[in-house]
Amino acid sequence: MTTSWESPSNIALIKYWGKRDTQLPSNPSISFTLSKCKTTTEVHFSEGTGVNITLDGTDKPEFIPKIEGFLERIMHRHPWLSSYNLQIKTRNSFPHSSGIASSASGMSALSLCIVEFAQKIDFKFDALNFYQEASILSRLGSGSASRSIYGGLVVWGGTPTLENANDEYAIEYPHIIDPIFKNYCDVVLLVEVGEKSVSSTAGHALMDNHPFRSQRFSQAHQHLSEIQKILKTGDIENFIRLTELEALTLHGLMMSSSPSYILMKPNTLKIIEEIREFRRESKLPLSFTLDAGANVHVLFPAAVKEKGMAFIKNTLIQYCKENRFIADHVGSGPKRLTNFEK
Ligand code: PMV
Repeated sequence: MTTSWESPSNIALIKYWGKRDTQLPSNPSISFTLSKCKTTTEVHFSEGTGVNITLDGTDKPEFIPKIEGFLERIMHRHPWLSSYNLQIKTRNSFPHSSGIASSASGMSALSLCIVEFAQKIDFKFDALNFYQEASILSRLGSGSASRSIYGGLVVWGGTPTLENANDEYAIEYPHIIDPIFKNYCDVVLLVEVGEKSVSSTAGHALMDNHPFRSQRFSQAHQHLSEIQKILKTGDIENFIRLTELEALTLHGLMMSSSPSYILMKPNTLKIIEEIREFRRESKLPLSFTLDAGANVHVLFPAAVKEKGMAFIKNTLIQYCKENRFIADHVGSGPKRLTNFEK
């Protein structure tokens, strides 16, 4: 039997950085789910054991240990997996070497395939519903993947100001938001492609003994509370202030870890300076955020798309590797597919 899903990547506005136990976050986070940056996965389940995986039709034995590790982590919730062989076919909408993390989209697509199959064989999983179970499994694959299960704005990690938010799984942002945030644009500028010098896993681990850890974790709760007012009122000025502060805090934490490290590149800083200068001069609400790498996500409301894209094409493109960027926007979340080849 075969199941197939496509699932998007996401970009955090308030960043998850630091974890405990089995992939539980040290602080709450909120993200925009993207649309065009996505993974499509098909899993064929048959009786037996073992896993094989292809990416874009090519065998990828080097991915097997990661997938097996993931299956072991979720086995206590899905013991039926021990008597199945999984043939996984996957492909990403973005190039593998683009520096865009495929773990959020990849792990969420795989988890959705697994939960759908569990449902088909009448396995009764613990979570309240399909998507909650898929978010728990995704989290066990890669923390930020837990948020890719839903479209729009998604929260992961318990925080006193959001009643149902919790560490085990992500939830759709539960309150009404200003329409400006519904179709926000995110253009990913590819500054550096290929493997990062320090992985996210190593970066999270460095938060364990970080001198600023407790301040950071309480700041993230404070920011979660602040962003709720911003989302409700459409306060773009404070949205920009807060999300840029979050991005630079993330990289500040890397620079002040022991050992310290820097993932930004000279062109990352050039782009940040250009964006801030453009914003000052044009008064247009363009801003940036960063994930754990050198690429820059340029954020702006859909209403200024034409001017934003012109600025990117005329000014920022020179700082991108081979002039590459991906023009994405907030999306509606994963989709079940009936035909992988579509
Ligand atoms: O999900 P991971 O372990 O790859 O960590 C992702 C961490 C950040 O992208 C930097 C922040 C986030 O909340 O997505």
